[in-house]
Amino acid sequence: MKILVVGSGGREHALAWKLAQSERVQTVFVAPGNGGTELDAHLVNVEITDPAALADFVVAEGIHLTLVGPEAPLAAGIVNLFRARGLKIFGPTKEAAQLESSKDFAKAFMQRHGIPTARYQSFSDAAQAHDYIKASGAPIVIKADGLAAGKGVVVAMTLDEAHAAVDHMLSDNAFGDAGARIVIEEFLAGEEASFIVMCDGKNVLALATSQDHKRLKDQDEGPNTGGMGAYSPAPIVTPSMHARVMREIINPTIQGMAKDGITYTGFLYAGLMIDAEGNPRTLEFNCRMGDPETQPIMARLKSDFLGVVDHACNGTLDAVELEWDRRTAVGVVMAAEGYPESPRKGDIIDGIPAETPECITFHAGTQMVGGTLQTSGGRVLCVVGLGDSVKMAQKQAYETVEKIHFNGAQYRRDIGWRGVK
Ligand code: AMP
Ligand code: GLY
Repeated sequence: MKILVVGSGGREHALAWKLAQSERVQTVFVAPGNGGTELDAHLVNVEITDPAALADFVVAEGIHLTLVGPEAPLAAGIVNLFRARGLKIFGPTKEAAQLESSKDFAKAFMQRHGIPTARYQSFSDAAQAHDYIKASGAPIVIKADGLAAGKGVVVAMTLDEAHAAVDHMLSDNAFGDAGARIVIEEFLAGEEASFIVMCDGKNVLALATSQDHKRLKDQDEGPNTGGMGAYSPAPIVTPSMHARVMREIINPTIQGMAKDGITYTGFLYAGLMIDAEGNPRTLEFNCRMGDPETQPIMARLKSDFLGVVDHACNGTLDAVELEWDRRTAVGVVMAAEGYPESPRKGDIIDGIPAETPECITFHAGTQMVGGTLQTSGGRVLCVVGLGDSVKMAQKQAYETVEKIHFNGAQYRRDIGWRGVK
């Protein structure tokens, strides 16, 4: 069987790597892929990004199913287009993807269906937004409504920062249309966790829990990034917390979408903030898997992933019971010099060791240039170590990280710290 994975990041490398392990899979195409998917003998890169051209490719190659990694093609309607042509694809439609592509949509949806989240108000008028901030005080959170590649959120600790964020988004038009409307919401304190499920339109299947590290520097300092590392499972999501999140957030979301006339299919990622009293609230929804959460999650998945995705496309996820490696997986992102502001490209990467049962290196911003592997984006690699404890998994990951070299490499030395007792 042939499979197509759409995307080029570490998440897509991990999804393709896992799918390629299925006995029924002959080839996994990755469009457009990266240096790592090019080097992997089981994967084939395809230089196509236009959804209609991808659908043509799927028909020409007789591809069995397509799995979409990033939000942009989902928000643009790749699932609608493939389905209209009778092609099997796993992901949300354009309408369902609004849970991620519009913060205003997501907040109004949560309010309407009683899903716990921060109090908020939306604005397109700067003067009204400034007045609201004056009346509310700081800390306060300002979010661009649309997709802004993880850069559209400002957690303002002071009123000055909050007013500046409003000016940046509404007056200076920093995010174009994506920032023409903003959401201003209550600051929530607590510990974050990533809660990701698969939905087939009726049934919901939770994946292993994980926790991301959004800040660039150790001790959660420095600017927000797309994610500097993640580990799975996340001990904060105890079995009772898990049940509560399913009952109070995930199930009401799927049912609420159905009530609003939208059938939700695809991955659904709830970014949670769990407060000191143990109450989970939804910070955001993503309509896809997380990056880098996917890398440790796929490293722990023991079930045949193609079988799972097939059930998800067929509406039979209730027949699936997932099997997980009992070990902890810790994924350490190695980022380029200058990330996240202006990552440098073109540094030569060497020293990546072969995969072992304890450590796998997934590629993200890498490309092959005339036979050498070079950096080509902000997050370059994600090194995943597996071990019987967070500490042992960290040891596996960091031993490999230290063998890998490219000029200007930045990485955190504390991935998984909240999971260390
Ligand atoms: P989002 O893209 O909405 O998940 O926001 C990115 C990051 O900003 C989150 O992972 C949190 O670390 C932080 N954040 C977002 N909303 C809030 C909030 N209401 N209170 C505190 N931190 C937040
Ligand atoms: N790691 C956060 C995200 O994928 O949005």
